[in-house]
Amino acid sequence: MKILITGSNGLLGQKLVYLLKTKSNIECIATARGENRINDKDGYIFETLDLTNRENVISTINKHRPDCIIHTAAMTNVDECELNPEQCRLNNITATSNIVEACKNYNPHLIYISTDFVFDGEAGPYTEEDIPNPLSIYAKSKLEAEKIISESGHPFSILRTMIVYGITDDVQRSNIILWTKNSLEQGKDIRVINDQFRGPTLAEDLALACYEAATRRATGIYHVSGREVISIIEIAYKVADYFRLDKKYIHPVSTAELNQPAKRPLKTGFIISKAERDLDYHPRSIDEGIRIVNEQMNTK
Ligand SMILES: NC(=O)c1ccc[n+]([C@@H]2O[C@H](COP(=O)([O-])OP(=O)(O)OC[C@H]3O[C@@H](n4cnc5c(N)ncnc54)[C@H](OP(=O)(O)O)[C@@H]3O)[C@@H](O)[C@H]2O)c1
Repeated sequence: MKILITGSNGLLGQKLVYLLKTKSNIECIATARGENRINDKDGYIFETLDLTNRENVISTINKHRPDCIIHTAAMTNVDECELNPEQCRLNNITATSNIVEACKNYNPHLIYISTDFVFDGEAGPYTEEDIPNPLSIYAKSKLEAEKIISESGHPFSILRTMIVYGITDDVQRSNIILWTKNSLEQGKDIRVINDQFRGPTLAEDLALACYEAATRRATGIYHVSGREVISIIEIAYKVADYFRLDKKYIHPVSTAELNQPAKRPLKTGFIISKAERDLDYHPRSIDEGIRIVNEQMNTK
């Protein structure tokens, strides 16, 4: 089975390449904007591909004719999307349309990665049947891209996820665990949101769910996240506990006080029973995830 990944330099993209290259039944084609930033260059094909370039999308997909495309690429900075709606539209919506157009002459399985932000956070945790109500430009763009995929006529899976954490090969890239740990170690005060609740998702768990969706040709929407729904500040406290660091540098801040450009849903969280049943999805606990990330930081 041939699987093409978009956005292979991103957090999920990198984890997927590392997973798929271990599978003898999979031929993996990794594509990313610019140079390949994955350290290990063996065991897969790499192609530079900016998804906003329609001709290149068409020629790359037609060159490889993958059985499945896992579309992870997106403009993911929610505030940047709010401030640059045109860029957001181009990278999240036009890019997705280009992929669908490139597949019009054959029938690959399309897997799209979406977000808990399609919901307004008034009534979480959410099932796949709940009605979206996106609050930001980013969230609207992701929902519109979901629609492009689900109405494409191709077999599709939409995996919605949230707060994905993990270590990439670009070590300068931060995440909530690294940021909290480094700040507390340096005695730096940090302000952490105390009124937004999420189910943090270990990037490796999400990559496994994508693999299962691809090989099982799962169809429809799946909610794929960690099982525990906790506030962002509780994640920071867990990091402090794990590394035995002083919590006095962690200062609670409310969403209203922080006043970020893009509006966020307050409480999301997912009911993940459909993914557990159909994708054999068994997410690690947050404590286990912190332990795994720590191990990975130590080997970088
Ligand atoms: N991380 C989360 O907490 C989270 C939560 C919910 C949903 N999601 C969704 O999950 C997916 C994967 O997220 P992630 O955390 O892996 O994101 P990420 O680390 O920000 O990676 C996204 C990748 O997309 C690439 N990209 C953006 N525009 C592109 C274009 N026009 N052509 C080709 N590549 C392009 C970026 O390239 P550059 O590296 O060159 O910038 C980046 O490598 C995304 O669709 C995101 O919306 C993520």
